Formats: sequence, C-alpha cells, structure tokens
Amino acid sequence: MLTPTLSLLKDAETGQYAVGAFNIYNLEGVKAVINAAEQNHSPAMLQLHPSALAYGGEPLIALCLTAARRASVPIAVHLDHSSSAEHIRMALANGVASIMADGSALPYAQNTQFTHTMTTLAHGYYAAVEAELGRLTGTEDGLTVAEYEAQLTDPAQAASFVAQTGIDALAVCIGNVHGVYRTEPQLDFERLAAIRAAVTVPLVLHGASGLPEAQVQQAISLGVRKFNVNTEVRAAYVETLRTHLANAQVPDLPDLLDLMRGGVAAMQAVVTAKLILFGSTDRA
Ligand code: G3H
Ligand code: ZN
Repeated sequence: MLTPTLSLLKDAETGQYAVGAFNIYNLEGVKAVINAAEQNHSPAMLQLHPSALAYGGEPLIALCLTAARRASVPIAVHLDHSSSAEHIRMALANGVASIMADGSALPYAQNTQFTHTMTTLAHGYYAAVEAELGRLTGTEDGLTVAEYEAQLTDPAQAASFVAQTGIDALAVCIGNVHGVYRTEPQLDFERLAAIRAAVTVPLVLHGASGLPEAQVQQAISLGVRKFNVNTEVRAAYVETLRTHLANAQVPDLPDLLDLMRGGVAAMQAVVTAKLILFGSTDRA
C-alpha cells in the first residue's frame, strides 16, 4: 500500500531498523523492489533521481504510485536529490508525497533558505521533506562531487539547520560516498552519534552501495532509519543484460521479455539482501 515516508521512518525508529530506499528508472526496477519487499514482508521506498524523472516524467511517477498502491506491503514514493523547485513542484503536483530538497551544493545560508522554501511548499501538500547538510563526494547519474568539495555534517550546524528549515528527515555526510567506494569506507560514527544527539528527526544515509555490513549495522544502532541504494541495484541490472546479450548466439536475438525478467531477478536479489541487512524484513 502507498504509505507516507514518515510512517515508515517512525515504524523503523520504533523497531530499531532502517528502511531501504531504492532508485528506480523503469518498470523492471519497480518490480524488483516491490517483489523483494512483498516476498520478505518488508516496507521499502521507490525513489526517483532527477535524471530518472527527466527521463520518465509523469508516466514514471504514475507507474511508481500505482505499483505502490497495489503492493501488499507499505511502499513510499520519493523524489531524490532535487535542487530544482520546478521538479519538486511537478512531483508534488503529481502525487509524490516525499521529496528531498537538495541544497547541499549551496553555501549554508542559501541551502537553508532553499530548503525552508521547499519545505513550506511540500508541507502544503502534506508531503515529507528530506534535506542534506554537508556534501557527499562520488558520482551518481553523471554528477560528480570531487573529494575537496565534500563536506562532513557539522552536528551543531545540523541542529540549527533542522530548526530553521522545518525538515522531516536529515541526510548526513559522515564519510559515505555516492557510487563506488574507491577506498575502504570509514564512516565517522562519533560524528553520527553527535548528530543523533543534536537533532530529533530521522537520519538518512546516502551512498549505501558498497558499505560493509558491520558499518551499516552500526549506523542503524546509532539512529540511521533510511538508506539510499542505487549503484549496486543498477549494476546488477546492467551486468545481467551484458551477460545475457554476450551469450546470445548471433544472429539469434534473446527474447526481450526474458532479458527484462532477468534484469528484475538480478535487481531483486540485491534489494532482498539489503532489506535483510537493514533489518526491515518481517515488519510488514
Ligand atoms: O540518492 C541515492 C543514493 O545516495 C545512491 O547511492 O549509488 O552509492 O548506492 P549509491
Ligand atoms: Zn544520494
């Protein structure tokens, strides 16, 4: 059933687990996430990166909302990483009741102002708002943030940011990275504990692909209630397509539906493993 993000995050806080938010780009991604969630009796989130929204537009939103409504477990639909007031307005007007107002590329004052404006707009639609303080390094959908631009979240600043903007969830930067980790991840758990102590809203960790299980579990024990996952799921899909096509005997073409089903199965396996790791299975 289509469920508000804050309901999922509140249940996760009560149950001391985290919800998986998976970026999707097409029907295969939606099926993979919902199949995995239903088979594991787990809540989950479908989230749209701005590049996916630019590609799929309102039909992709409608697909996510319809699939979430028909699901037998709680599913939220979320606009991820949006720095565009226009995109946020469009998503809200099309029924997306959860958005990330991403002003993390802006100086603090401008991030606060943009986030506050988008939060006021979104709350007018009774939608939940996530925002990011600090900035992740790494690459996602063509956007690369270099190491020197990355900034860790300042716990003291987090408290005033949440108070000044009115957001419902805070994405933190504690050494997490978008895309592939080039070195062994070393999340700053002291910083996470200090942020947890400073703010009352649920905490979100982006860049969950490639995070060691022990660090995920420690992050959950310190209050992370939503993990964003993209790279591992996408890689599973593309890898399966590559293998399937490589094995096709020219001039025969593989059956298109077989290709699509193979992609769903590969992504579903990754999503299932994450739901188990996040502790959200058998909660729905
Ligand atoms: O917003 C999306 C996530 O932060 C994706 O991160 O590709 O490293 O899993 P990831
Ligand atoms: Zn992210």
